[in-house]
Amino acid sequence: MSSPSAGGVPALGQPRDERFAGRHVLSVKQFDRADLERVFRVAHDMKVMVGLVGTTDLLKGKVLANLFYEPSTRTASSFIAAMERLGGSVIAINEVKFSSVSKGETLEDTVRVLESYADLVVLRHPEVGAAARAAAVARKPILNAGDGVGEHPTQALLDLFTIREELGRLDGVELALVGDLRHGRTVHSLARLARWFDIRLRLVSPSSLAMPAEVLDDLREGGVTFTEHRDLDEVLGSVDVLYVTRVQQERFADPADYQAVKGAYVITPAVLERFSPRGIVMHPLPRVDEIDPACDADPRAAYFRQIAMGMYVRMALLALVMGRA
Ligand code: NCD
Repeated sequence: MSSPSAGGVPALGQPRDERFAGRHVLSVKQFDRADLERVFRVAHDMKVMVGLVGTTDLLKGKVLANLFYEPSTRTASSFIAAMERLGGSVIAINEVKFSSVSKGETLEDTVRVLESYADLVVLRHPEVGAAARAAAVARKPILNAGDGVGEHPTQALLDLFTIREELGRLDGVELALVGDLRHGRTVHSLARLARWFDIRLRLVSPSSLAMPAEVLDDLREGGVTFTEHRDLDEVLGSVDVLYVTRVQQERFADPADYQAVKGAYVITPAVLERFSPRGIVMHPLPRVDEIDPACDADPRAAYFRQIAMGMYVRMALLALVMGRA
């Protein structure tokens, strides 16, 4: 792994996987294809295990601190569910206003406190680079659960796992990322993983919400085939996956700018008539108005199945990082 420093030290006598055990998960840039395939294999095993017996005691005695400075439903609760299904327990801090953060405690100090109680820390924070800042002071692994408009690596892993489970492949897939590509951290992370597979990207957004230059630079450097579009109809007929995102109102400094672009793309049953009958529609959720609920009954609507995949992938990551996969 290139970027992270060692987090904690894996327990003596535990099987040790150098790429994950005791390591931070800060950015998708730290993974290569073999790492991704390892996560997917373990996630698949977790899916089978949950279907058969529901829980295991793989992480019995381990404690996860779930530290959320930004709202979350799925990510926070799926980490809790993942840890509990592995037999571990969770310190959940999702209302930092009721914690010492409201007394002015720094992120670094809060992380130092929580890692004294826990074996790893999951962190969501509104600032880009917050997870890396936490990792710089932490002795235990930090898992980035979203750092502002930066990255959301665990979401990208579950997104790829969903495509693999739904379509049976990642190589050869044409993937449209639609909506707020500027502020959407899930698409920043997902786009960057395309380099490890033969995935062609179609980036569809209003010009003011285009994919940031640093992500495009990473795509070029990784040899990813991509094109940029304003009009969804230019790609609708050819893509295998429509990955739709919310326009991120909370990231706009000027509400008028949000009003100008909200509702730029709305997926309706009429739109889906022009989409591949074998394709899938994904969304990291929450949705606002970009997918009409009338689409939910369409078998191609994979966004609620995607949610369940998130728990399996997070179970896999927790087990790998704890050196017990
Ligand atoms: C996303 C996020 O928080 O970045 N949600 C999630 O984690 N599933 C997407 C969003 O908030 O729009």
